[in-house]
Amino acid sequence: MKAVKVAENIWWVGAVDWDTRNFHGYSTARGSSYNAYLIADDKITLIDTVKAPFFDEMKARISEIVDPSKIDVVISNHVEMDHSGSLPQLMKLTPGAAVYTSPQGEKGLRAHYKEDWDFHAVKTGDSLRIGKHSFSFVGTPMVHWPDNMLTYCPEAKMLFSNDAFGEHMASAERFADEVPLGVVEEEAAKYYANIVMPYGAQTQKALADAAGLDISVIAPSHGLIWRRDVGTVVGWYQKWSADQPENRAVVVYDSMWHSTETMALRIGDALEHAGVPARMCNLKTTHISDIMTGVLNSKFVFVGSPTLNNGIMPPVAQFLTYLSGLAPKNRVGFAFGSYGWGGQSVGIVDKIMREAGMRMLDSVRIQYIPDEEQLNALSEHVRQGVQAFI
Ligand code: FEO
Repeated sequence: MKAVKVAENIWWVGAVDWDTRNFHGYSTARGSSYNAYLIADDKITLIDTVKAPFFDEMKARISEIVDPSKIDVVISNHVEMDHSGSLPQLMKLTPGAAVYTSPQGEKGLRAHYKEDWDFHAVKTGDSLRIGKHSFSFVGTPMVHWPDNMLTYCPEAKMLFSNDAFGEHMASAERFADEVPLGVVEEEAAKYYANIVMPYGAQTQKALADAAGLDISVIAPSHGLIWRRDVGTVVGWYQKWSADQPENRAVVVYDSMWHSTETMALRIGDALEHAGVPARMCNLKTTHISDIMTGVLNSKFVFVGSPTLNNGIMPPVAQFLTYLSGLAPKNRVGFAFGSYGWGGQSVGIVDKIMREAGMRMLDSVRIQYIPDEEQLNALSEHVRQGVQAFI
């Protein structure tokens, strides 16, 4: 297990999780990594740790540079256990180490681990010198939990950004410039859509707070390190957190006997003719977390369900629950579906999407098998509906 040099006396000492495929319902098809960073100075400092099962991997990488019992300072940017999970094992090796974290971080770490470590709660503007290097701290509540903070090292011009600017992505490479940019963008977008999206306003504030920092390297706690062109990932975050999606659409549906699917396909065709690129998302084949990557850049969200037992199809219910929680802003929604007799599904979908804050086009439901006349009317309805918003 090697430590990877990031800058003079600064090493990546994290862990690569090649196997994880589910992170709280987020399909992590490429795995993940938990990034920890070691700074060798008068005071040996570790920034963040790794998920508990990966402690030995982190310890082995640290041991390439220094005996872990010599660590003087641990900076915990975030309580969530993918980053703090190895703290108890680490602190057994170096029980006197000082733990720097936000006030909410101290509260959270105490609640998680029931330990009375040498806590130092720090807020925006506070700083710490460990020798040639110093750190300043920027609180970034709700990016991703109330306790989150960024740590900035001015001597290395390095921002340790924790969850921000990361990707769930296992790789042999450690740096973003070693991986095709399209792959990094796809995974960064999926990460933003599924983790950070509810907190666009807080992300904008964090970007504003960090705007005055001279940053050459962004070192997140998941995925790849940005040592070149840091403006690329900052630009992505500025765009995504502005909640101004493009004139694109996702058409999400499940179907029983192909009638709702027929409607979905005709909606896709209508959108194509209206000049609105549409991503077709059959819930039988498409994971909800991949759909959210499409929602990130799409102004229009179309959701279709047939009526099943006076309700909606369970996969549609699952998607709508997930969508509502991630709360995309400034979206236009549309509910559609087929039915046999009760016909409740479309009203249920429409209600959930309204409650999620979407502006809704008038919904459409069709009994049994849609005929050509009904499908033509649906096309025209969709075409006129989207025209009002593009
Ligand atoms: Fe990567 Fe919010 O933890």
